[in-house]
Amino acid sequence: MDAGCGEGTLAAEIARRGAEVIGVDMSAEMIEQCQAKGIEAHVGSVTNLPYDEVFDAVFSNAVLHWVKDARGAVQNIAKSLKCGGRFVCEFGGKGNAYHVVSAMQEVFAKHPGFGVFENPWYFPSVEEYKSLLEAEGFRVEYIEHIPRPTPIDDISNWLDIFANGITSHLTKTQFEIFKHECKEILIKTNYSKDEGWMVDYKRLRLKAVKKC
Ligand SMILES: C[S@@+](CC[C@H](N)C(=O)[O-])C[C@H]1O[C@@H](n2cnc3c(N)ncnc32)[C@H](O)[C@@H]1O
Repeated sequence: MDAGCGEGTLAAEIARRGAEVIGVDMSAEMIEQCQAKGIEAHVGSVTNLPYDEVFDAVFSNAVLHWVKDARGAVQNIAKSLKCGGRFVCEFGGKGNAYHVVSAMQEVFAKHPGFGVFENPWYFPSVEEYKSLLEAEGFRVEYIEHIPRPTPIDDISNWLDIFANGITSHLTKTQFEIFKHECKEILIKTNYSKDEGWMVDYKRLRLKAVKKC
């Protein structure tokens, strides 16, 4: 299973290497795109999977930091796997985009009219996620916290895409103020003349095996 398969680029790559893949994603639009690549795919959440011990492996990329119910996701992934099945994934880890998240919080705090800042992300530490996996019946073979500073073209464009869930209730003018003030803060930490804009990504990458 590719859990949170999105438009299915990686699911198709896995299939090309000889595995039978089923994609699952919360977004019907993504599932349509995945199916268009010839991959069996279903709309659903990783916190409510209809599978019982059917998969040899669950793969997931760039999904689990969007899932606040981390225990629910791990329990559902464990339930879907056969005994001895592998869970291989990567997602945002502790401190991911730290400066960007702090800047967003700071700007919200400055403007009570923006409402409460609801952080949509779950960025666990190695220790926290390893404990969760072990508590839900996995043996962790490998887990690493990987700093991956990533160049972007402009922080305003990044905020257009990734702050969408946080700012969808703001008016157009409020959103422009939000972006402008975030940029003013972040230019001190995330911009240099030599490298341009960078986001301080930090990923958790792991392989765990379901205990029998
Ligand atoms: C950044 S995309 C990654 C897509 C794909 N894994 C890739 O690497 O190209 C994140 C995906 O997670 C999906 N997603 C978020 N929360 C989810 C959940 N609870 N259950 C299933 N999919 C979810 C989104 O719909 C989106 O398609």
